[in-house]
Parts: sequence; structure tokens; C-alpha cells
Amino acid sequence: MGIRDGNTRKLSDRVIIRELKENELGEAEMIVHLAFGTFLHIPDAIQNPAEKRLLTHRWRRNPEDIIAAELDGKLVGTNVVTRWGSFAFFGPLTVRPEFWDSGIASRMMESTMGIFEKWGVTHTGLFTFADSPKHLGLYHKFGYHARFLTSIMTKEIDRSDRPITNQKFITFSECGTKGKEKYLEECRELTAGLYPGLDLSSEISLVDDYKLGDTLMLLEDSKLSSFATCQNGPNTEAGKDKCFVKFGAARRDSRSGERFENLILACQSFSRMRGASSLEAGVNLSHSSAFDLMLKHGFRTTFLGVAMQKPNAPAFNLEENYIMDDWR
Ligand SMILES: CC(C)(COP(=O)(O)OP(=O)(O)OC[C@H]1O[C@@H](n2cnc3c(N)ncnc32)[C@H](O)[C@@H]1OP(=O)(O)O)[C@@H](O)C(=O)NCCC(=O)NCCS
Repeated sequence: MGIRDGNTRKLSDRVIIRELKENELGEAEMIVHLAFGTFLHIPDAIQNPAEKRLLTHRWRRNPEDIIAAELDGKLVGTNVVTRWGSFAFFGPLTVRPEFWDSGIASRMMESTMGIFEKWGVTHTGLFTFADSPKHLGLYHKFGYHARFLTSIMTKEIDRSDRPITNQKFITFSECGTKGKEKYLEECRELTAGLYPGLDLSSEISLVDDYKLGDTLMLLEDSKLSSFATCQNGPNTEAGKDKCFVKFGAARRDSRSGERFENLILACQSFSRMRGASSLEAGVNLSHSSAFDLMLKHGFRTTFLGVAMQKPNAPAFNLEENYIMDDWR
């Protein structure tokens, strides 16, 4: 890329890629809001940055998960890497708008690819704007292929006393240490049935450790049949008045559809218990039966993006899997 300073060196060559520092967290969150707001033409994107925290808790859990780009002593961009066992994804990846198109994201991508390689994961992905030639081009350069669209779906939650469902679930937070170990193992076993080595333990523990929401678990004959890791409220990835499913799935077998519906109902009940006015969940359209069930339960698409994957293969994005997930 071509932007050069007054002298000779390409701007991207002057960029230092390193871990984010604690005293940069506020600024990093602001850059995320500013970058998306600028791209999406949202004038007040940084008006209310305290509502959502997309980096802070992940940094607290492990600073190595946030890649920072520094130019002349100033923070100019970040990227977040997340590992779910044998699968990893990245995002949000953002750069200060005044430095776009100078190769800074590409430098962070090189570092991201190095981390994925070190982790030895078998599949990686990202979620991006399906209609942006720049985004598709940038990620393609690093071996990512656009596959199915992912529909970000929302349902308003009726806050009246009328019960949504008598679907019973237990929450991860209410289990003692032994119970947590047992259910982490059961969640691992359930997700390994969707894709070998897929493991949501770190996501479940993140939400539990920092009280960002909870993981709902539905049991059949005391065996885990489905679970969903949800965040809710201000200073989480959900935001004020919102509940958001980071990952939810039903055990894979001939009754997955029925179990997925129960999970949808449980997520709605949980949203209401937490006082949220809306529930958001992403569904990759490869899971067409799961998508149909979301529509049946009153969810509507509010935003469409595309899953880009490396290698160019489905991994767990298969018709027979009933999954809600969000790689943002
Ligand atoms: C997306 C974003 C991170 C990119 O950052 P950046 O520093 O401008 O990106 P870079 O300069 O490193 O790379 C741009 C690449 O876009 C690609 N590109 C741009 N226009 C393109 C086009 N029309 N067709 C194909 N590729 C194109 C090129 O591959 C270019 O790389 P090159 O310089 O090697 O040719 C930045 O624009 C941003 O913060 N946007 C708002 C937030 C956002 O959308 N984040 C990503 C969400 S998935």
C-alpha cells in the first residue's frame, strides 16, 4: 500500500504490532465505535461508547488476545482473536479512519495469521460486510473465502408478566465448582459432535468470570441437550437493554430441531428475566432449518453479513447442525 510520510518509509512499515496495554482500553473501544460508525455513516457512533464493551473483558482474560497497531506512539487500530478449541476467528478488526488504506489492517492480519498458526487450529473464520469489495479483498489476500451469509436476527421481548415458556433450564452461574467442571465437559462433548474439537469452554468461562450474562443449559434425563452462552446489559458485548447469544447449539441427532426450539424459548425467557427489551442472535444460512425455526419464533433479520472461512470448507456450518453464533 502506498501512503508514505514526508520522507521515504511506507506508513505501514512504521507501524508497530504489539499487545494492547491496559491504559489504552478506553481509546481502543472508542476506535472500534468510530471506525464502524464512519464506515456505516452513523453520525453519533461514539456518542455512547459505554454501552458496549467489545474488547475490555477479552483483554482482562488474556491481553494476548488483543492485537494493537501503533504508529508514531499513537494507537491506530486493534484486532481481537478468539479461540473455540479447534476453531478460531477474529474481529472486530478496526483502524482509525484517517489511516485507512495504508496497509495497517494488513499488518494486523499478518500477526493474526501467526497466532492462528501457533494455536494449531484446524479451521478459522470471520464475519464481514458481504457487499464490500474492500473487506472481501482484504481477507481473501489472507486465504479467506466468502461462504454462506450470516443473518443477525432480533426479536423484541415482551416485558409483561405473561410467561413465554415453561421451558426449564439451568444456568452455569448457579452451579458449584464441581458442577461447572461437569457441564463444561458436557458442553465440550456436545460441540465436538458438531465439529471435532469445537470447544466453547473459554467463552462460557469468560461470561461467568466477568458476569457478562450467563450460559443457559437445557437437560434431558439429566444429560445436556442444548446450551447458549448469552451476554446482556451495558458494558458487555450486548449493550443496554439487550441480550445477545454469542453461541448456542443443540445436540446433533434426529431431535436437534425440537431441542433448538426449546433453546430459542429459553433464551427469550432469560432475556425477559434480565429485563432486556430485545434478543439478538446470528444464524449462518448454511443452517437453513435452524434459520426457519428462528423465523417461526418471530425473529427478523436486522443485518446480513457473510462468513469467510479458511480453508474454504464448511467446518460446523452444515445444514444438519442447529447453531446460533456470532463471530463479531
Ligand atoms: C476494514 C478496515 C479494518 C481495513 O483497514 P485498512 O488499514 O484500511 O486496510 P488495508 O489498507 O490494510 O488493506 C486494504 C486492502 O483492501 C483491499 N481492497 C480495497 N479495495 C478493494 C477492492 N475494490 N477490491 C478488492 N480488494 C480491495 C486490498 O486488498 C487492500 O490491500 P492491498 O493494499 O494489499 O491492496 C478499516 O477500513 C476499518 O476499520 N473499517 C471499519 C470497521 C470495519 O469494517 N472492520 C472490519 C469488519 S470485518
